[in-house]
Amino acid sequence: MSKFYIETFGCQMNAHDSEKVIGTMMASGYTQVETPEDADFVLYNTCSIRDKAEQKVYHRLDQFKKDGGKGKRFGVLGCVAQQEGEAIFDRAPHVNLVVGSASYSKLPELLVKLDAGEKRVTGLSLDTDDTFETPLTRRDNPHKAYITIIEGCDKNCTYCVVPFTRGRERSRTADSVMQEARQLVDLGYTEIMLLGQNVNSYRDPSPAGWDFATLLQRMGEIPGLRRVRFTTSHPRDFVKDIVDAITENPVLCNFVHLPVQSGSSAVLERMDRLYSRERYLECIGWMKLSPRDIAISTDIIVGFPGETEADFEETISLLDEVGYTSIFSFKYSPRPNTGALAYGDHIPEDEKRRRLLILQEHQRGIQIALNETCVGKTEEVLVEGFNRNTSQWIGKTSQHRTLNFVHSSDENLMGQYRTVRVTRSGPNSLAGETVSA
Ligand code: 5AD
Ligand code: SF4
Repeated sequence: MSKFYIETFGCQMNAHDSEKVIGTMMASGYTQVETPEDADFVLYNTCSIRDKAEQKVYHRLDQFKKDGGKGKRFGVLGCVAQQEGEAIFDRAPHVNLVVGSASYSKLPELLVKLDAGEKRVTGLSLDTDDTFETPLTRRDNPHKAYITIIEGCDKNCTYCVVPFTRGRERSRTADSVMQEARQLVDLGYTEIMLLGQNVNSYRDPSPAGWDFATLLQRMGEIPGLRRVRFTTSHPRDFVKDIVDAITENPVLCNFVHLPVQSGSSAVLERMDRLYSRERYLECIGWMKLSPRDIAISTDIIVGFPGETEADFEETISLLDEVGYTSIFSFKYSPRPNTGALAYGDHIPEDEKRRRLLILQEHQRGIQIALNETCVGKTEEVLVEGFNRNTSQWIGKTSQHRTLNFVHSSDENLMGQYRTVRVTRSGPNSLAGETVSA
């Protein structure tokens, strides 16, 4: 029997795609192994969002160029596969399979072609209405599960490769989403994360036609489900109904990741984000008014072409105005096919680095202050791990904060919900102890 190894790069969408690919491989007669050395078939599920992520996969493939790769097959999946296509065979001639995420449902037939002796097999069509739904998904975590509700992206942000790597937007029927969620609850899962490049533009393709807020409401009513999260949102399509759903139902976590990218309306315009700073702050305002105390996180790009010092200052002031509980921040990385390549005024690498450091230092101060306000409060956590070095359990609050805590007895708390009193805080996490029942 053939043994395969898979390594995944990139976002949660990719992590979940790999869970589906693993299930599909196993149904096709392959067994999964832990190291590439043990495998006959080495798969990389790749990310091309920034140049660094893309280079990683070539680095991995280069390691097997000579003898190490003898007798093995290699497959490149995901966003680099879609972006580079057959050019991957030129750059890494030992690769046998190149498949983009829009073609994973064809994986079984592609594997048959490989077994029949074809040396170079591709699945690169983006021309599909299909979502990759499969009953074979091999989920990594027994308590938290991802469910894809929408694939692809119809926006045209001028920095972004995703529309080229994941194709047009296509939503899954609400029926099939709800059915999968109920099955997961029956299997013991208590937290579900709804996934899509832009979940806010979800629209049930069946006659019921639910929008995203309706889907959220109905998910929140599934008996036995304790937590529902979702990612990622686009401010242009984010509506107040989503906040109202969260306000009304405690099963919907009080945490929203709403990528802003820049605090300057001029930069947002050049990014073609389709909203201004003011419209973004309107969405934030809805959340601030909710009695649920909704935690907000975001993504920021610094050093986008033409970003002036004044534009950058506007991003800094936005951090203060919103009070994010966490951010993901990046230096702008020019990507193939994207609109921003045509802009002339690129920012030097040193300056991007300088801005990134300032931004991250500023945010650190905000997080220290916000996390301090949690001290003395109690929080419900889902227990996700145990740190042997500190003898602390690791939990996640509904607001998606990490809360490390001590527990007096030696019972196994993995996957359980516990109430924890917060006693200390730092820039990136909280610490506490369980509250005795
Ligand atoms: N350069 C830097 N960051 C990028 N992102 C997307 N494209 C680029 C790029 N070309 C960031 C955005 C997005 C996150 C997933 O990655 O902030 O929200
Ligand atoms: Fe990377 Fe975007 Fe592809 Fe996710 S969708 S793997 S972030 S390029």
